[in-house]
Amino acid sequence: MRPEHPVVLITGASSGFGEAVARLLAANGFHLALGARRVERVRVLADELVKAHGIKVFAGAVDTRETASVNAFVEAAATALGGLHVLVANAGLASGTFKLWETPDEDLEAMLRTNVEGVVKTIRAGLPHVRKAGWGHVFFIGSTAGHQPYEGGSVYCASKFGVKAMAQTLRLEVNGEQIRVTSVDPGMAETEFSNVRMKDEAKARAVYQGVKPLAAFDVAECVRWCLMLPDHVNIDEILVKCTDQASVHKVHRRA
Ligand SMILES: NC(=O)c1ccc[n+]([C@@H]2O[C@H](COP(=O)([O-])OP(=O)(O)OC[C@H]3O[C@@H](n4cnc5c(N)ncnc54)[C@H](OP(=O)(O)O)[C@@H]3O)[C@@H](O)[C@H]2O)c1
Repeated sequence: MRPEHPVVLITGASSGFGEAVARLLAANGFHLALGARRVERVRVLADELVKAHGIKVFAGAVDTRETASVNAFVEAAATALGGLHVLVANAGLASGTFKLWETPDEDLEAMLRTNVEGVVKTIRAGLPHVRKAGWGHVFFIGSTAGHQPYEGGSVYCASKFGVKAMAQTLRLEVNGEQIRVTSVDPGMAETEFSNVRMKDEAKARAVYQGVKPLAAFDVAECVRWCLMLPDHVNIDEILVKCTDQASVHKVHRRA
Protein backbone atom coordinates (compact mmCIF):
# COMPACT_ATOMS: atom_id res chain seq x y z
CA MET A 1 0.00 0.00 0.00
CA ARG A 2 1.16 3.51 -0.82
CA PRO A 3 2.70 5.09 2.31
CA GLU A 4 1.69 8.58 3.37
CA HIS A 5 5.19 9.96 2.76
CA PRO A 6 7.04 7.68 0.31
CA VAL A 7 10.85 7.75 0.37
CA VAL A 8 12.46 8.62 -2.97
CA LEU A 9 16.11 7.90 -3.76
CA ILE A 10 17.58 10.13 -6.48
CA THR A 11 21.04 9.80 -8.03
CA GLY A 12 22.56 12.86 -9.66
CA ALA A 13 20.75 15.22 -7.31
CA SER A 14 23.51 17.86 -7.36
CA SER A 15 22.27 19.46 -10.58
CA GLY A 16 19.73 19.49 -13.40
CA PHE A 17 16.86 16.99 -13.43
CA GLY A 18 17.88 15.27 -10.20
CA GLU A 19 17.89 18.51 -8.26
CA ALA A 20 14.58 19.60 -9.83
CA VAL A 21 12.91 16.27 -9.00
CA ALA A 22 14.14 16.64 -5.41
CA ARG A 23 12.72 20.16 -5.14
CA LEU A 24 9.35 19.24 -6.64
CA LEU A 25 8.86 16.04 -4.65
CA ALA A 26 9.95 17.76 -1.43
CA ALA A 27 7.21 20.32 -1.99
CA ASN A 28 4.79 17.39 -2.37
CA GLY A 29 5.73 15.83 0.98
CA PHE A 30 8.03 13.00 -0.15
CA HIS A 31 11.07 12.07 1.97
CA LEU A 32 14.30 12.03 -0.02
CA ALA A 33 17.67 10.31 -0.32
CA LEU A 34 19.92 12.48 -2.47
CA GLY A 35 23.24 11.38 -3.92
CA ALA A 36 25.96 12.63 -6.27
CA ARG A 37 29.74 12.89 -6.36
CA ARG A 38 29.61 16.60 -5.48
CA VAL A 39 28.26 15.85 -2.03
CA GLU A 40 28.55 19.43 -0.74
CA ARG A 41 25.94 20.58 -3.25
CA VAL A 42 23.62 17.79 -2.22
CA ARG A 43 24.05 18.60 1.47
CA VAL A 44 23.21 22.27 0.90
CA LEU A 45 20.10 21.24 -1.07
CA ALA A 46 19.08 18.78 1.65
CA ASP A 47 19.34 21.44 4.38
CA GLU A 48 17.25 23.83 2.31
CA LEU A 49 14.51 21.26 1.65
CA VAL A 50 14.32 20.12 5.26
CA LYS A 51 13.88 23.73 6.40
CA ALA A 52 11.36 24.61 3.69
CA HIS A 53 9.18 21.49 3.81
CA GLY A 54 9.81 19.71 7.12
CA ILE A 55 10.53 16.44 5.32
CA LYS A 56 13.31 13.93 6.07
CA VAL A 57 16.29 14.08 3.72
CA PHE A 58 19.40 11.89 3.63
CA ALA A 59 22.31 13.32 1.64
CA GLY A 60 25.32 11.22 0.68
CA ALA A 61 28.23 10.92 -1.70
CA VAL A 62 27.84 8.35 -4.44
CA ASP A 63 29.71 7.46 -7.59
CA THR A 64 27.23 5.31 -9.48
CA ARG A 65 30.02 3.69 -11.51
CA GLU A 66 31.37 2.00 -8.38
CA THR A 67 29.51 -0.95 -6.85
CA ALA A 68 30.83 -0.39 -3.32
CA SER A 69 29.94 3.31 -3.41
CA VAL A 70 26.40 2.63 -4.64
CA ASN A 71 25.78 -0.13 -2.12
CA ALA A 72 27.05 2.00 0.77
CA PHE A 73 24.94 4.99 -0.29
CA VAL A 74 21.76 2.97 -0.74
CA GLU A 75 22.15 1.07 2.54
CA ALA A 76 22.89 4.26 4.50
CA ALA A 77 19.88 5.97 2.91
CA ALA A 78 17.52 3.08 3.66
CA THR A 79 18.74 2.87 7.24
CA ALA A 80 18.43 6.63 7.82
CA LEU A 81 14.96 6.89 6.29
CA GLY A 82 13.50 3.53 7.35
CA GLY A 83 13.28 2.07 3.83
CA LEU A 84 12.93 3.11 0.18
CA HIS A 85 9.91 3.20 -2.14
CA VAL A 86 10.91 5.08 -5.27
CA LEU A 87 14.19 4.96 -7.21
CA VAL A 88 15.10 7.68 -9.70
CA ALA A 89 18.16 6.39 -11.60
CA ASN A 90 18.99 9.77 -13.05
CA ALA A 91 22.79 10.16 -12.84
CA GLY A 92 24.18 10.25 -16.34
CA LEU A 93 26.12 12.17 -18.90
CA ALA A 94 27.20 12.58 -22.49
CA SER A 95 30.91 13.06 -23.03
CA GLY A 96 31.93 14.63 -26.34
CA THR A 97 30.37 14.53 -29.81
CA PHE A 98 32.72 12.09 -31.46
CA LYS A 99 32.17 10.06 -34.59
CA LEU A 100 32.01 6.39 -33.57
CA TRP A 101 35.52 5.64 -34.83
CA GLU A 102 37.00 8.67 -33.06
CA THR A 103 35.60 8.01 -29.58
CA PRO A 104 38.39 8.00 -26.97
CA ASP A 105 38.36 5.25 -24.34
CA GLU A 106 37.91 7.79 -21.56
CA ASP A 107 34.61 9.11 -22.99
CA LEU A 108 33.43 5.65 -24.04
CA GLU A 109 33.93 4.35 -20.52
CA ALA A 110 32.45 7.43 -18.83
CA MET A 111 29.18 7.08 -20.75
CA LEU A 112 28.78 3.30 -20.59
CA ARG A 113 29.85 3.00 -16.96
CA THR A 114 27.59 5.82 -15.79
CA ASN A 115 24.56 5.52 -18.05
CA VAL A 116 24.34 1.74 -18.23
CA GLU A 117 26.34 0.18 -15.38
CA GLY A 118 25.45 2.96 -12.92
CA VAL A 119 21.75 2.51 -13.56
CA VAL A 120 22.00 -1.26 -13.05
CA LYS A 121 24.00 -0.80 -9.84
CA THR A 122 21.55 1.76 -8.45
CA ILE A 123 18.47 -0.34 -9.12
CA ARG A 124 20.18 -3.59 -8.08
CA ALA A 125 20.99 -2.07 -4.69
CA GLY A 126 17.68 -0.25 -4.21
CA LEU A 127 15.15 -2.80 -5.46
CA PRO A 128 15.29 -5.16 -2.42
CA HIS A 129 14.20 -2.22 -0.25
CA VAL A 130 11.36 -1.36 -2.61
CA ARG A 131 10.26 -5.01 -2.64
CA LYS A 132 10.39 -5.17 1.14
CA ALA A 133 8.13 -2.09 1.31
CA GLY A 134 5.65 -3.78 -1.05
CA TRP A 135 4.90 -0.58 -2.94
CA GLY A 136 7.18 1.31 -5.25
CA HIS A 137 8.15 2.96 -8.49
CA VAL A 138 11.37 2.84 -10.50
CA PHE A 139 12.19 5.73 -12.83
CA PHE A 140 14.77 5.52 -15.59
CA ILE A 141 15.88 8.77 -17.20
CA GLY A 142 16.31 7.92 -20.85
CA SER A 143 16.50 10.39 -23.73
CA THR A 144 15.34 11.10 -27.25
CA ALA A 145 18.83 9.72 -27.96
CA GLY A 146 17.39 6.34 -26.99
CA HIS A 147 14.76 6.64 -29.72
CA GLN A 148 16.63 8.24 -32.60
CA PRO A 149 20.40 8.15 -33.15
CA TYR A 150 22.28 11.19 -34.41
CA GLU A 151 25.75 11.89 -35.80
CA GLY A 152 28.31 12.41 -33.07
CA GLY A 153 26.17 10.59 -30.52
CA SER A 154 26.88 6.92 -31.17
CA VAL A 155 27.94 5.89 -27.67
CA TYR A 156 25.55 8.20 -25.84
CA CYS A 157 22.70 6.96 -28.04
CA ALA A 158 23.80 3.35 -27.45
CA SER A 159 23.71 3.97 -23.71
CA LYS A 160 20.21 5.50 -23.86
CA PHE A 161 18.89 2.74 -26.16
CA GLY A 162 20.29 0.51 -23.40
CA VAL A 163 18.35 2.44 -20.77
CA LYS A 164 15.18 1.90 -22.78
CA ALA A 165 15.89 -1.84 -22.99
CA MET A 166 16.52 -2.02 -19.24
CA ALA A 167 13.27 -0.22 -18.41
CA GLN A 168 11.30 -2.55 -20.68
CA THR A 169 13.02 -5.59 -19.19
CA LEU A 170 12.56 -4.58 -15.57
CA ARG A 171 8.84 -3.99 -16.20
CA LEU A 172 8.56 -7.60 -17.36
CA GLU A 173 10.59 -8.89 -14.44
CA VAL A 174 8.59 -7.18 -11.66
CA ASN A 175 5.22 -7.83 -13.25
CA GLY A 176 2.85 -9.07 -10.55
CA GLU A 177 4.41 -6.87 -7.86
CA GLN A 178 3.12 -3.39 -6.93
CA ILE A 179 6.15 -1.77 -8.53
CA ARG A 180 5.64 0.61 -11.42
CA VAL A 181 8.40 1.18 -13.97
CA THR A 182 8.63 4.36 -16.02
CA SER A 183 11.19 5.78 -18.41
CA VAL A 184 11.14 9.57 -18.78
CA ASP A 185 12.89 10.39 -22.05
CA PRO A 186 13.57 14.10 -22.60
CA GLY A 187 14.84 16.00 -25.60
CA MET A 188 17.08 19.05 -25.29
CA ALA A 189 16.92 20.54 -21.80
CA GLU A 190 19.04 23.30 -20.33
CA THR A 191 20.96 21.88 -17.36
CA GLU A 192 24.69 21.35 -16.86
CA PHE A 193 24.43 18.51 -19.40
CA SER A 194 25.94 20.44 -22.34
CA ASN A 195 28.70 21.96 -20.19
CA VAL A 196 29.72 18.44 -19.21
CA ARG A 197 29.41 17.17 -22.77
CA MET A 198 31.20 20.04 -24.56
CA LYS A 199 33.67 20.86 -21.76
CA ASP A 200 33.39 24.44 -23.09
CA GLU A 201 30.99 27.19 -21.93
CA ALA A 202 30.54 28.87 -25.32
CA LYS A 203 29.86 25.59 -27.14
CA ALA A 204 27.40 24.59 -24.42
CA ARG A 205 25.51 27.89 -24.76
CA ALA A 206 25.36 27.48 -28.55
CA VAL A 207 23.35 24.26 -28.13
CA TYR A 208 20.38 26.31 -26.89
CA GLN A 209 20.88 29.40 -29.09
CA GLY A 210 17.56 30.78 -30.36
CA VAL A 211 15.62 27.90 -28.77
CA LYS A 212 13.42 27.68 -25.70
CA PRO A 213 14.56 24.30 -24.40
CA LEU A 214 12.96 22.21 -21.67
CA ALA A 215 13.84 23.30 -18.16
CA ALA A 216 14.77 20.77 -15.48
CA PHE A 217 11.46 21.49 -13.77
CA ASP A 218 9.52 20.32 -16.88
CA VAL A 219 11.14 16.91 -16.60
CA ALA A 220 10.59 16.82 -12.83
CA GLU A 221 6.90 17.46 -13.47
CA CYS A 222 6.76 14.32 -15.65
CA VAL A 223 8.15 12.28 -12.74
CA ARG A 224 5.74 13.84 -10.25
CA TRP A 225 2.75 13.20 -12.53
CA CYS A 226 3.58 9.50 -13.04
CA LEU A 227 4.11 9.08 -9.32
CA MET A 228 0.84 10.73 -8.32
CA LEU A 229 -1.36 8.63 -10.63
CA PRO A 230 -3.38 5.83 -8.99
CA ASP A 231 -1.45 2.64 -8.26
CA HIS A 232 -3.07 0.67 -11.09
CA VAL A 233 -1.81 3.19 -13.70
CA ASN A 234 1.72 2.72 -15.05
CA ILE A 235 3.12 5.19 -17.54
CA ASP A 236 5.68 3.10 -19.41
CA GLU A 237 7.44 5.91 -21.21
CA ILE A 238 7.24 9.67 -21.62
CA LEU A 239 8.96 11.17 -24.65
CA VAL A 240 9.06 14.88 -23.86
CA LYS A 241 10.58 17.59 -26.05
CA CYS A 242 10.40 21.37 -26.13
CA THR A 243 7.99 22.77 -28.70
CA ASP A 244 10.92 24.06 -30.77
CA GLN A 245 12.26 20.52 -31.19
CA ALA A 246 10.30 18.41 -33.67
CA SER A 247 12.93 15.67 -33.81
CA VAL A 248 16.56 15.10 -32.93
CA HIS A 249 17.48 16.67 -36.28
CA LYS A 250 14.83 19.39 -36.59
CA VAL A 251 15.04 22.26 -34.12
CA HIS A 252 13.50 25.66 -34.79
CA ARG A 253 15.92 28.49 -33.92
CA ARG A 254 15.00 32.16 -33.75
CA ALA A 255 17.47 34.68 -35.13
N1 LIG B 1 19.80 17.84 -20.39
C1 LIG B 1 19.43 17.16 -21.45
O1 LIG B 1 19.32 17.70 -22.57
C2 LIG B 1 19.08 15.70 -21.31
C3 LIG B 1 18.21 15.15 -22.25
C4 LIG B 1 17.86 13.80 -22.13
C5 LIG B 1 18.36 13.04 -21.10
N2 LIG B 1 19.22 13.60 -20.19
C6 LIG B 1 19.68 12.73 -19.10
O2 LIG B 1 19.22 13.26 -17.88
C7 LIG B 1 20.05 12.81 -16.81
C8 LIG B 1 20.42 14.01 -15.96
O3 LIG B 1 21.14 14.94 -16.73
P1 LIG B 1 20.98 16.52 -16.55
O4 LIG B 1 20.51 17.06 -17.84
O5 LIG B 1 20.25 16.84 -15.32
O6 LIG B 1 22.55 16.91 -16.47
P2 LIG B 1 23.41 17.55 -15.29
O7 LIG B 1 22.84 18.86 -14.88
O8 LIG B 1 24.82 17.51 -15.78
O9 LIG B 1 23.25 16.51 -14.09
C9 LIG B 1 23.83 15.23 -14.12
C10 LIG B 1 23.85 14.67 -12.72
O10 LIG B 1 24.40 13.36 -12.76
C11 LIG B 1 25.38 13.25 -11.75
N3 LIG B 1 26.40 12.27 -12.09
C12 LIG B 1 27.12 12.17 -13.21
N4 LIG B 1 28.00 11.14 -13.12
C13 LIG B 1 27.80 10.59 -11.90
C14 LIG B 1 28.38 9.50 -11.20
N5 LIG B 1 29.37 8.76 -11.74
N6 LIG B 1 27.94 9.22 -9.97
C15 LIG B 1 26.96 9.94 -9.40
N7 LIG B 1 26.36 10.98 -10.00
C16 LIG B 1 26.79 11.30 -11.24
C17 LIG B 1 25.95 14.65 -11.59
O11 LIG B 1 26.46 14.83 -10.26
P3 LIG B 1 27.99 14.89 -9.84
O12 LIG B 1 28.75 15.45 -11.01
O13 LIG B 1 27.98 15.79 -8.65
O14 LIG B 1 28.33 13.48 -9.51
C18 LIG B 1 24.69 15.50 -11.77
O15 LIG B 1 24.03 15.65 -10.55
C19 LIG B 1 21.24 12.11 -17.46
O16 LIG B 1 21.02 10.71 -17.41
C20 LIG B 1 21.18 12.59 -18.91
O17 LIG B 1 21.74 11.66 -19.79
C21 LIG B 1 19.58 14.91 -20.27
